[in-house]
Amino acid sequence: MKYRHNYNPTISDEDIFEEIVKEREDIGYYNLVFSDTSKYKEYAKSVVQKNIVVIGIGGSTLGTYAIYKFLKYSKNLSKKLYFLETTDPIDIRSKLENIELDDTLFVVISKSGTTIETISIFKYINSLIKCDKNNTLVITESDSKLSGYAKANGITSFDIPKNVGGRFSVFSAVGLVPLAIVGVDIDQLLSGAKEMYDSFFNKTLTYERVLKKARFFVEYKNSFNINVVFSYSSRLDGFNKWYIQLWGESLGKIDINSTRQGLTPIGIIGPIDQHSFLQLIVEGRRDKTVTVIKVEDFDSNLKIPSVKLEGLEELDYIDGIEFSSLINEQADATIESINNLNDIPCDVITIDSVSEKSIATLMYEYELLTSVCAKFMYINAYDQPGVEAGKLILKQKLKK
Ligand code: PA5
Repeated sequence: MKYRHNYNPTISDEDIFEEIVKEREDIGYYNLVFSDTSKYKEYAKSVVQKNIVVIGIGGSTLGTYAIYKFLKYSKNLSKKLYFLETTDPIDIRSKLENIELDDTLFVVISKSGTTIETISIFKYINSLIKCDKNNTLVITESDSKLSGYAKANGITSFDIPKNVGGRFSVFSAVGLVPLAIVGVDIDQLLSGAKEMYDSFFNKTLTYERVLKKARFFVEYKNSFNINVVFSYSSRLDGFNKWYIQLWGESLGKIDINSTRQGLTPIGIIGPIDQHSFLQLIVEGRRDKTVTVIKVEDFDSNLKIPSVKLEGLEELDYIDGIEFSSLINEQADATIESINNLNDIPCDVITIDSVSEKSIATLMYEYELLTSVCAKFMYINAYDQPGVEAGKLILKQKLKK
């Protein structure tokens, strides 16, 4: 008798853990929590410019944007951070028109050092202002062409470790340097990530949560292929974008048996999307899991005042309620309505506050979750052949 198969055994939690422990030796993002940040902080202190413009795309910007967007209204940040990511000419012009270029540090971030979007925008900036060691910083791999450019021009550059992939690089120089420059406490970021690291590798709460969730997502992926992250804070819309990239680019792969794998990430914001996408969740096809993310303490006492509006007296019961309580009650009402249906998998993550530590714990846990899902799916989370192919075609077209 001959026997062939194209399916994979369901792997035990213990085996997955062992594989992750083994992988930790080669895949660099896990150990970023142990980074020495002194040279980043020292550089940050030396920056005199008021505006910081990050030029990059994908993994080179999304994580930094997620953290900056989350913190910027709550922290007393000393400088303004802008992101130039797209080749949309109107976006490039309108952003640059509103920035005082003479008082700007340009931070060019690209792991490969040759990404068309990044280099084309940087070239354009060079036509507006002289970019040199006084107003430019480079973050790239040590031997990339961009690193060569930095060296040739005496421009400071920080390395992206070779074994840290773009979308897993937020806790490397990619995220830490621009965030330190604008006044984010990067040690607190790493301390939040380290908490998750310890809890996962010591097999306590994070380990249990991540393994359970990843196993469910993968075992039920044919029924619930879409994973909706429903974030109840507009400050988390950067996190949503980062999650979509992390999940999509890491998990949309062909597995070791040539079977196509993938979980589809969606990121929505509460309460805004209660008035749109929630209808699809509640009455649409049962193909979605929902993760609601709440912020326990917004550190804001903004209230609905007791203002009398003629004809709208029936709404006076909302008078005196703090907006932070309102948004969390809205999240709870959504969760209850979903749970009442009994057929939509739903989990709730509540982060403590609007702080470096809480956003870092959330992001590091999602990185771990992505790695564990990939192990369950027998795929490589860290490459992106599908994206590379498009880059190559573009290059050929532009060279013609
Ligand atoms: O996660 C990834 O690897 C990608 O999204 C990259 O970050 C993105 O393509 C940008 O590449 P680079 O940093 O080389 O400019």
